[in-house]
Amino acid sequence: MEVCKLKDTYNNNIDHDEIDELKLYKHLGGGLPTVNSLTDLIQELNAVFASDSVNVELVHYLMKSYKSNPLDWKKYAKFDRYRYTRNLVDNGNGKYNLMALCWGEGHGSAIHDHANSHCFMKMLKGSLEEVRFAWPKSEGEELQVIGRKRLNFNDVCYINDSLGLHRVENTSHVEGAVSLHLYCPPYSQCSVFNQTTGQRSVCTVTFWSMYGKKRNRDIQESRAPEDN
Ligand SMILES: [Fe+2]
Repeated sequence: MEVCKLKDTYNNNIDHDEIDELKLYKHLGGGLPTVNSLTDLIQELNAVFASDSVNVELVHYLMKSYKSNPLDWKKYAKFDRYRYTRNLVDNGNGKYNLMALCWGEGHGSAIHDHANSHCFMKMLKGSLEEVRFAWPKSEGEELQVIGRKRLNFNDVCYINDSLGLHRVENTSHVEGAVSLHLYCPPYSQCSVFNQTTGQRSVCTVTFWSMYGKKRNRDIQESRAPEDN
């Protein structure tokens, strides 16, 4: 069984916040889901991903519809002093991972790909800067910047490997940031890239906490120096 078949129509146009709600409304046969809480969001996502053919516009709509409320997500928001953290919120019955990423002041990711998965990212607190890069064409070549975007409170953005690589950073020196990420299908390894040389290396991604509970120190410290 194909874990997650996503519509081809959802392509380069996704990098904006506009969703054709009328089209989506008609596609669903009338009636758009209401999302009033993180619990509602998870429930709706589980329903969407129960099918083998997932409507990606609907996933985007659901992520966008949820209005961040810290009371919903504070139990997952576990910060580390030195690096950003990945905190599992829901495993989507094996079809996707939903996680809260906590970015301290000045924390940023390495430049990375998304292991052929689809990635939705929603701001729950603060703002982040996303810088996109083209895939390196040859070894030893510096990565070329192809886009730059600020993600503000409640914004949603999307990326997959066909849209390039990216780095995400909390550029604020005074405020932490929290973002909610959905990866479909889930993955535990991706590639990270050296900006100057384009050199690629494999990186294992780990969780700092799962379902609101911190993992033991060994697991936390086993993470690679630069993961996504
Ligand atoms: Fe990413």
